[in-house]
Amino acid sequence: MSVSRYPNAAAAAEACGQRILELLTQAISERQRATLAVSGGTSPRPMFELFAKSGFPWERVEIFWVDERCVPPTDSQSNFGMANETWLAPAKVPSGNIHRVPTELEPHEAARKYAERVRPFLPFDVIHRGMGPDGHTASLFPGEPLIADHEGIAAAVWVEKMHQWRVTLLPGVLKAARNTVVLATGADKAEALASVLRGPYDPMKWPAQIGARDANVSWFTDLPKEMV
Ligand code: 6PG
Repeated sequence: MSVSRYPNAAAAAEACGQRILELLTQAISERQRATLAVSGGTSPRPMFELFAKSGFPWERVEIFWVDERCVPPTDSQSNFGMANETWLAPAKVPSGNIHRVPTELEPHEAARKYAERVRPFLPFDVIHRGMGPDGHTASLFPGEPLIADHEGIAAAVWVEKMHQWRVTLLPGVLKAARNTVVLATGADKAEALASVLRGPYDPMKWPAQIGARDANVSWFTDLPKEMV
């Protein structure tokens, strides 16, 4: 794995975005099309804005989500909503290339339908992941039994600390990605990032460790070497 450090969160997010565009360009040169799964949260916003201004041939890219909050796509908490507002709509990405989680359905039905939609496109060329201050990634939070599920594609998960149903891709899909980029910015993530990158392997305690130390993984952070 590689760890790249930047002076601030926006610079880390933009560098992460550039890396994704490089990897997608490579995939398109090899297979004429590429597949990308993105995460939500706040840190990707500068990356999505860079995508919108990039002039990239998005009609060649199938776009998916690593996880989604079970809220309407117009809700301020929607990961699709944030990506649509900052990237997909401004870049006029064709709707046929956008494979969002059908959150209008009951969470387990949404997960089942999403898994069906994702299956023919696996393994993904590029997965973009984030990490929370508690070491969660996707919507796999510490102690979540689904962390042990290496066969499934996607599942509904009740996140107690957020009082929220979510749909998340599962470890087998995360680990099978041809390339993974992880964007982890903010001082509140220093302890978790140190444990995830250097601590004993314990994904039930640090879910962001899932497939995170493999050679095809690039970490982007604004945290200095002395902190992590
Ligand atoms: C989500 C995400 C989640 C996110 C982390 C980091 O839906 O919340 O996909 O896994 O990547 O929570 O979020 P921030 O980037 O906002 O810190």
